Amino acid sequence: MENALTNTAGQSDYFWWQTGTIYQIYPRSFCDSDGDGVGDLQGIITKLDYLQWLGIDCIWLSPIFPSPMADFGYDISDYKGIHPLFGTMADFDELVGEVHSRNMKILLDLVPNHTSDQHPWFIESRSSRTNPKRDWYLWQDAREDGGLPNNWLSVFGGPAWEWDEATGQYYYHAFAVQQPDLNWRNPEVQQAMLDVMRFWLEKGIDGFRVDVMWHMIKDLQLRDNPALTNLLPGTENRPYYQFAQVYSTDQPEVHDIVRMMRALTDKFDQRVLIGEIYLPVEKLVTYYGHDSKGAHLPFNFQLLQLPWEPMSIAMAIDTYEGSLPASGWPNWVLGNHDKPRIASRVGRDQARVAAVMLLTLRGTPTLYYGDEIGMRDVPIPKHEIVDPQGVNMPELNISRDPARTPMQWNSQINAGFSRRKPWLRVADDAGRINVEAGQKDPYSMLSFYHRLLALRKSEPALHIGTYSPLYSDNQIIAYFRQYENDRFLIVLNLSHRPAYLTPRQDFHEGKIALSTEYERIRIKTGPDITLNGDEALVIRVTQTTPPTPGL
Ligand code: GLC
Ligand code: MG
Repeated sequence: MENALTNTAGQSDYFWWQTGTIYQIYPRSFCDSDGDGVGDLQGIITKLDYLQWLGIDCIWLSPIFPSPMADFGYDISDYKGIHPLFGTMADFDELVGEVHSRNMKILLDLVPNHTSDQHPWFIESRSSRTNPKRDWYLWQDAREDGGLPNNWLSVFGGPAWEWDEATGQYYYHAFAVQQPDLNWRNPEVQQAMLDVMRFWLEKGIDGFRVDVMWHMIKDLQLRDNPALTNLLPGTENRPYYQFAQVYSTDQPEVHDIVRMMRALTDKFDQRVLIGEIYLPVEKLVTYYGHDSKGAHLPFNFQLLQLPWEPMSIAMAIDTYEGSLPASGWPNWVLGNHDKPRIASRVGRDQARVAAVMLLTLRGTPTLYYGDEIGMRDVPIPKHEIVDPQGVNMPELNISRDPARTPMQWNSQINAGFSRRKPWLRVADDAGRINVEAGQKDPYSMLSFYHRLLALRKSEPALHIGTYSPLYSDNQIIAYFRQYENDRFLIVLNLSHRPAYLTPRQDFHEGKIALSTEYERIRIKTGPDITLNGDEALVIRVTQTTPPTPGL
């Protein structure tokens, strides 16, 4: 790893997970091959050619393991199996083979923080106070006054402690009641989960995205979380976010666990460990670990969370770049199955600008399925909500269902996703916003993504080049990427109005390699750069300084 990052001799010194693009598949919603309304592994296999055409290097699957589906797979009842809804182990092996035969990679979701309450470990654990697995979970007596052990709340609403009548203790669940948290201080739990990792790594998968990595260890004394006085905007009516999660998450000892996971991962060739972590940058970067022996990529979710304001984003980019440890490789994420889709947050025109940002910033990009065709969040009527976060807090409009709707493949019934009624309704615009229509239309979002991914792949400056900020104001962000003598200037207009930029350094003339305005591709530009509203430009720099007069 160190070699890869200090040696600039050639592109091949980088790992696939540094240069490639990751694509998140939410398996329930990607493609349903057997007509039960839920996507499956055989469905994914039929779409690998599409992903390869698109220019994807690696797929990450949200959980496909046996699960009662209280949290749609993030409540696992068997870590070494495949849920029959998705297929069989033979289907999985076939999928891995098909992915690898296309020179692509595949990551699985590891959910180590909690199991399903139907997992045999928990069934044993709750069976009696003296069961050998009692200590595998977080059991606590009621306080002397009969109250809850502390003030910790569940992300999905209500207290995080659930009373177990049979054994007269509470158990802790950071998420749904059906998702009891494991006790990661117990060495047996550590070994059991490392064994799960080994199982899948030996099967040939290329790594893991680790669910809620920063949650795994909690304060040993179970101290109360302090109430916040300054609330983050938009969280005012979510009790969970009214407390700083200083004792329930991000404990120093979590890094020992991450290190263990990394050490195991490193026993295999070219595998990657990605951590799902929602923390401020200065804490996020600690998950690279001592000597960079933690997560290869602690997911950087800033683009999902920041307001769409050029100056805040420019500052966040530079803060992040400046905070990375010496051998820490950056990464960027624009969407996932927990957050509103980018096209719904900033609109479809700006979503193209966002795509350019995602795919030209330095570091590994992760795309969310459907964003490449401009899918929007789909309004789900109240009685159709299935996401526990939405069901538990219906008045807050925080259900995650809208961002999890079936992939729109074509204009046929159910958008070509399934022969029968899908588990979540399909978008109203699926007849025109779909893969088949997008591939035929050079102006579509999909054709744009296709060109952008191809450019990124063909230009070392864009996938391994250096990053240097140039300028930002209340409309635009501009930065350079450079590899050897190849230099690109990227200019993003985050506003709907025309914008102008006259770089005072390192740029005199260039050729537009890519623009969100199809008509401007391959046009030359001089030192006075103009942008349409909602336009993003990737300019190949051809002259950095004005020609010397008289020569
Ligand atoms: C992660 C997942 C989310 C899930 C939660 C509990 O945040 O991305 O979907 O509900 O963990 O597993
Ligand atoms: Mg199916």
